[in-house]
Amino acid sequence: MSRDLRLLLQERFQKAFHKAFTIENEIEISASTKENFGDYQCTTPMKLAASLGLAPRAIASKVVENLELTTPIKKIDIAGPGFINIHVDSDWISDTLTYIAKDDLENLGVTKTKTKERIICEFSSPNIAKEMHVGHLRSTIIGDAIANLLEFLGFDVLRLNHVGDFGTQFGMLIGYIKHFHPEKLDNLSEISLEELMQIYKKAKLEFDTSPSFKKEAQEEVPKLQAHEPLSVKVWQEICKISRRSFEAIYKLLNVKILERGESFYSPYLPLVVKECENKGLVTLDGEAKCIFLEGFINSEGNPLPLIIQKKDGGYNYATTDLAGFFYRTKEDKARRIIVVTDMGQSLHFQMVYQAALLAGYVNPEKVRFDHVPFGLVLAPNKKKFKTRAGETEKLTDLLEEAIIEAKALLEGRDVENLDEAATVLGIGAVKYADLSCNRIKDYTFSYERMLKFDGNTAAFILYAYVRIQSIKRKVNRLVNKEAKILLHHPTEISLGLHLLRFNEVLWTFYDDLLPHKLTDYLYHLAEKFHAFFRDCRVEGSSDEESRLLLLDLTAAVIKRGLDILGIKTLERM
Ligand code: ARG
Repeated sequence: MSRDLRLLLQERFQKAFHKAFTIENEIEISASTKENFGDYQCTTPMKLAASLGLAPRAIASKVVENLELTTPIKKIDIAGPGFINIHVDSDWISDTLTYIAKDDLENLGVTKTKTKERIICEFSSPNIAKEMHVGHLRSTIIGDAIANLLEFLGFDVLRLNHVGDFGTQFGMLIGYIKHFHPEKLDNLSEISLEELMQIYKKAKLEFDTSPSFKKEAQEEVPKLQAHEPLSVKVWQEICKISRRSFEAIYKLLNVKILERGESFYSPYLPLVVKECENKGLVTLDGEAKCIFLEGFINSEGNPLPLIIQKKDGGYNYATTDLAGFFYRTKEDKARRIIVVTDMGQSLHFQMVYQAALLAGYVNPEKVRFDHVPFGLVLAPNKKKFKTRAGETEKLTDLLEEAIIEAKALLEGRDVENLDEAATVLGIGAVKYADLSCNRIKDYTFSYERMLKFDGNTAAFILYAYVRIQSIKRKVNRLVNKEAKILLHHPTEISLGLHLLRFNEVLWTFYDDLLPHKLTDYLYHLAEKFHAFFRDCRVEGSSDEESRLLLLDLTAAVIKRGLDILGIKTLERM
């Protein structure tokens, strides 16, 4: 028997709609917006009114007449212009929860994928020799949460860090070191990141102002591409220096990711251009090879080119991304490709994806592509977050600061290890604050807000978890796995039903890749726990065993939910 509540309701309604009107339309069942309306609602009568030529209420009553009114449905009513409100049978909730608590603790009622398809989740992707900025932090946090979700759902996830390690800026850097600092060539590994960024700035200035250096720098690019040993050596050292600083951030954030930078795809670039030419996709525009795609025009109404090879033979950002599609579908055999970047790159990805379709690199029937865009990170004064010039450590500073502020908050509280707890809370707060705001919108960074103990914050959710642990310690009794979860009080039923929704929330997140759906869920879960705990005695009550089991499940769902968001839990706080 399926335990997926929304699916069960959907099937039930599908049958009723079919019986009533012999239609096979997709039936929409969603959680009710207000609890006193019911548990779920069906709004399909409104959507079908026009095509059936009937009033929504008339449709709704005919559907209800044909609906099998057995468990998990307890009661139905028609409301407003033609909603169908569904009340779920609490005995069914109680049986299902008992089953999960006993036999499905690992999955927590979540249906896992049977196909175990490979999904590529590309995120973070900072640039070598440049600052890793708050945008990259956002990409890292969002991408990691998505990858964690997909892993929990049972997919074969490839987490890729598409670092910018290729292109003209390297010609510039290598040329600059060779020309102005040949003495450094023998001890490149001693260059610090600060120094490297200074070199970058000076090289850029030189590049922009001195035509002769510009030429020299440009000549370095093909040398690197032809694997000229000295160029390759300088390039490798530069990458190493940057990599160290990226790794420090991933360590703090506890994020695992595989580096596969732009340079990885460079052997495929000539082939990709050739194939595009063979398919007749390429137009020469002032000697640059361009792909013109239908529907893409600039602000003046002229066709917008996707440049895949420059006049001088060099390749572009877009060429690498096109090669990325080629490699990820043909070699990695990915069935879904997810790329997390700031919103500024949306147009780029729309165009590259179109080109990849035309080039035959993506079969949309088999491969799903999602560009996951996000808004800016704003400073508390609502201005664009600025890292002070040259300060690459800024991101680590930002995270360290969150840890320091968390430590001040935790001082004097019941924690096992203050430093560890401060790291969990500080990093958790930064991640949660980011994930809980709709990623499409800009997000304002504020330590004060993210570290609040009430409201939609990491601390609030962590505290609910900690409280459950403390109740369990107090009752000091092993959870009896033979007990049954019984639901009596309304707040107890409401908590129970919410626990059963974990499955639909995760699968919704799978579809829309909006992490705030999961944070909202956890926030409500914590609230429902608090309401339950206010209204229902656990210790010494006749329902003690049942309630302990319910709390145990609540804690497990909170822990798993936070784990997907990349946030650790604490046993005490
Ligand atoms: N390195 C780029 C940046 O910092 C992000 C790369 C995004 N991924 C891609 N496949 N283009 O903006």
